[in-house]
Amino acid sequence: MSPLLLPFLLLHIITGAALQLRPGYYSGTCPAAEIIVRDVMKKAFVREPRSLASVMRFQFHDCFVNGCDASMLLDDTPTMLGEKLSLSNINSLRSYEVVDEVKKALEKVCPGVVSCADIIIMAARDAVALSGGPDWEVKLGRLDSLTASQEASDNIMPSPRANATFLIDLFGKFNLSVKDLVALSGSHSIGQGRCFSVMYRLYNQSGTGRPDPAFEPKFREKLYKLCPLNVDQNVTGDLDATPIIFDNQYFMDLDSGRGFLYSDQTLFTCPQTRGFVKQFSIDQGEFFKAYVEGMIKLGDLQIEQPGEIRENCRVANGRPVNTF
Ligand code: HEM
Ligand SMILES: *[C@@H]1O[C@H](CO)[C@@H](O)[C@H](O)[C@H]1NC(C)=O
Ligand SMILES: *[C@@H]1O[C@H](CO)[C@@H](O)[C@H](O)[C@H]1NC(C)=O
Ligand SMILES: *[C@@H]1O[C@H](CO)[C@@H](O)[C@H](O)[C@H]1NC(C)=O
Ligand SMILES: *[C@@H]1O[C@H](CO)[C@@H](O)[C@H](O)[C@H]1NC(C)=O
Repeated sequence: MSPLLLPFLLLHIITGAALQLRPGYYSGTCPAAEIIVRDVMKKAFVREPRSLASVMRFQFHDCFVNGCDASMLLDDTPTMLGEKLSLSNINSLRSYEVVDEVKKALEKVCPGVVSCADIIIMAARDAVALSGGPDWEVKLGRLDSLTASQEASDNIMPSPRANATFLIDLFGKFNLSVKDLVALSGSHSIGQGRCFSVMYRLYNQSGTGRPDPAFEPKFREKLYKLCPLNVDQNVTGDLDATPIIFDNQYFMDLDSGRGFLYSDQTLFTCPQTRGFVKQFSIDQGEFFKAYVEGMIKLGDLQIEQPGEIRENCRVANGRPVNTF
């Protein structure tokens, strides 16, 4: 992470101003859009429950890097290093094929109308709703970028080693509050992480040669079994105790030292964020309310740039992609 580059990149972030995002944006041009997206997500859940979490994560990795513009879905080209192989995304982001499937279903009914950037926003909402979490109205009308930037993703996306102070600061640069940070981290109520993301925490937290003292000992033992030193670091563990149900279990787990990632547990360790963790752990309604607010703010992130409705979410429409 380069702290020098970050302020420069973020200067260009504007929220909700360039394109007029609004609910029901496709009601005239593709009235079935939201039903179609939810339908494909339901099928994805039946095939593999985790894929909902994997697709929901896209909203974070898309919107933080040059706004919600589906840049993270672009494949690399000979002239453009995209975001799929960035530090946080390589061997980690998955279920791109679910978005392809949504796009294909939409193109059949209303070709060239619904952006991939909006698909991510609808699919993320549906993933949460279908997992037992809140349901909400999303604003639509985004355009897809013509390019992507691996460098921007490398510089912006936070590591699982990040502490709460760093995360508060990072989210603040996107006009997201401390409460937004804690609520949005509740996304880890569903899904899994790799041993890769927790090895240092288990064996050498902050270079001490010791595990993170914030671990509850039994939970730590469980992770030692899952992730021994010589493990294939692609092995995955659950991010909370109920990984296919979107609920406030994640916060209860943090309260008892059972957070998977250091960047999760730090929200309980740090006094500035602990109050929200405690509140959400005892009041699921408060968590859901704050979560919806956070997701809407996250979905509002935009930068000023040319855009289009991609035919295929993986490639810009019939033009050279090296336009930056
Ligand atoms: C606060 C800073 C955050 C950090 C440092 C972070 C980091 C991570 C890491 C390291 C993983 C596991 C990746 C792996 O081991 O391959 C993960 C998984 C995940 N993240 Fe985050 N994350 C953060 C915030 C968010 C937000 C805001 C969202 C959604 C809005 C989100 C959604 C997810 C989901 C759903 C998964 C599970 C994905 C799956 O099972 O495939 N995360 N995150
Ligand atoms: C930042 O967030 C605050 C509170 O949610 C809001 O009132 C304000 O308009 C936002 N600023 C920008 C630049 O979006
Ligand atoms: C948090 O991380 C930053 C750098 O990422 C470091 O400078 C700071 O000392 C850390 N703060 C705490 C309280 O550990
Ligand atoms: C732990 O990390 C520190 C600092 O990065 C490093 O010098 C040390 O060799 C590491 N120890 C082990 C056992 O990996
Ligand atoms: C995980 O799997 C990928 C793809 O099979 C491989 O390239 C990578 O080296 C593995 N990563 C780790 C940390 O073992």
